[in-house]
Amino acid sequence: MSGVSAAPQPHATGQSVAAGYKAHLSRGRGKLGEMFGGHVEVSSAGSRVRTADGQDFLNAGGYGVFLTGACHPRVVAAVERQIRTLPLATRLLLEPSAARAAAALAAVCPAGLERVHFTGSGAEAVETALKMARSLGHRRVIATHGGYHGKTLGALSVTGKPLYQDPFRPLLPLVSHVPYGDSAALAAEIGPDGSDAVVILEPVQGEAGVVIPPDGYLKEVADVCRATGALFVLDEIQTGMGRLGAWWGADREAVRPDILLAGKSLSGGVIPVAAAIATEKAFAVFDRDPFIHTSTFSAAPVAMAAAEAAIDVIRDEGLTERAAELGRVLLGRLRGSLTEHCGHLVREVRGVGLLIGVEFHDAGTAGEFLLELLDRHVIVNHSLNAHTVVRFTPPAVSATRRRTSCPRRSTGPPARSAGASRGPMTRTRSN
Ligand SMILES: Cc1ncc(COP(=O)(O)O)c(C=O)c1O
Repeated sequence: MSGVSAAPQPHATGQSVAAGYKAHLSRGRGKLGEMFGGHVEVSSAGSRVRTADGQDFLNAGGYGVFLTGACHPRVVAAVERQIRTLPLATRLLLEPSAARAAAALAAVCPAGLERVHFTGSGAEAVETALKMARSLGHRRVIATHGGYHGKTLGALSVTGKPLYQDPFRPLLPLVSHVPYGDSAALAAEIGPDGSDAVVILEPVQGEAGVVIPPDGYLKEVADVCRATGALFVLDEIQTGMGRLGAWWGADREAVRPDILLAGKSLSGGVIPVAAAIATEKAFAVFDRDPFIHTSTFSAAPVAMAAAEAAIDVIRDEGLTERAAELGRVLLGRLRGSLTEHCGHLVREVRGVGLLIGVEFHDAGTAGEFLLELLDRHVIVNHSLNAHTVVRFTPPAVSATRRRTSCPRRSTGPPARSAGASRGPMTRTRSN
């Protein structure tokens, strides 16, 4: 597969890369990398990640980006074609890849969501939605406790985590948070007239630690918004594009928000891209003035090629169905194995499709679990808004088929993660 280097890179040692991070990137990030074993990832394909010293990891992490696996050949081919012809556009002339990607995305969204604004990150898609809402007079923003929507100032205002917000206050005014999963609390916060309100929430809260709302919640939220005139933004940046075993969490309850947000897996695991997909009404201000909300790299052809190809791959390879099927298997096996080996440490194992969370009683054990998995060459995610929850977001592709294009597996013993404690997890296993 082009773009994936099979050769280990002996000069990129954990030490030298961490030194580079500490000198020029984030010192804290460099230290964290060392704590996670100082592994240096240099290539990826499908469900595998290869490190500079030739070790092979199973990727159930990546914060939900890799539903199609990394470097899916069809996405890479589309991006390569685009790079050779028109990677970026003048932005004065018309350009076909953006029109094609927007049509492809609208075609897999709930009916009535036809208008697309592409961005380079999920947080920018959130900003876009908040601006669309304001353009229609919906200035009062209601989000949910624990919800995660990104870290630019507007997105951070609705991300329900004071830890990330406090150093950067003041944030957006008129923002409130209600308990997630409680449509009555939401209705009370909106009040009888929601014509000045916008609601933003996730179908399943990802960074809050895979919080699954009661059945019917999304439908109730949509009904409350419709009844009061509030605008409904559904943030599917993590849950969408098949992650939950359907194209969208919205599909699972036959809901159509006013604005749907996509990102992460929209990249096809190759080029960063996100989007706000809106109704005609919500999009109207962007129609009136095409310069009202722009960005140099928005709808960059190279990202459009990745998005269109990712959508084709998810549809043609049946990855939504596969996410549902694999999710059921993984959830069952995780529950069984954790109950058998360390049930007393685990509060709950829960998930929808391939978004699965293991909640421990305390954050320390969650950290140890993550390090132990790393020792066994499995990459998972911690949860930004819930340190007791370790998340599994594996690709929905076959591990064996795609592994053939990944560099050879190391025959040496797995590296032991520096700083990994052999605490309660190990004790439990040997009991
Ligand atoms: C639901 C949700 N919304 C928004 C974001 C922000 O996306 P990004 O990190 O691409 O800015 C994330 C990222 O994890 C997310 O999970």
